[in-house]
Amino acid sequence: MKKTNIILIGFMGVGKGSVAREIVKHSSYIAIDTDDLIESMENKKIKKVFEEDGEEYFRSLEKDVSLWLEKSVENTLISTGGGFYKVENLKKIGTIVLLDSPFENILKRIQDHPNAKAKLKKRPLLSDLKAAKKLYKERRPEYLKLADIVVDVTDKSAEECTKEILKKVKKHV
Ligand code: S3P
Repeated sequence: MKKTNIILIGFMGVGKGSVAREIVKHSSYIAIDTDDLIESMENKKIKKVFEEDGEEYFRSLEKDVSLWLEKSVENTLISTGGGFYKVENLKKIGTIVLLDSPFENILKRIQDHPNAKAKLKKRPLLSDLKAAKKLYKERRPEYLKLADIVVDVTDKSAEECTKEILKKVKKHV
């Protein structure tokens, strides 16, 4: 049977967390976040996992999380880290919703945030903006290929995105 979860994917800083919080307000979904799960599993921040254990280890934790999601989670809104989409079983976890926006707009969104410094600091892969742009260029076609639903979030509020997502998900299932 098809899984009833919604999975939010998209680049770092595109607003997956904000949109997830808004969806929870306007629906009966309960939300979980793959980075939060990993932080709880490891009892340390993602930044520390990268620093102390390396990216490869972090990716293996994402894989563990993906297997658990497939096996045990239903009716849930799952927001993911920007690289989580690479897990092999993503399609088996639920309906995949891509939050899409150009790199420059994502960067502006982060830089305009009152907590911009902290937002940049907690994301190891955003420390070098040139490398981050390259990563964005590599990933965007892969995101688009996997997505069941694409929502352009540029200049839209979390509430507008939520309305669009819930409408499109309803049509899709
Ligand atoms: C990553 C994105 C981060 C976090 C980790 C790696 C990535 O999550 O999972 O730093 O590979 O894009 P956000 O997308 O919430 O920033």
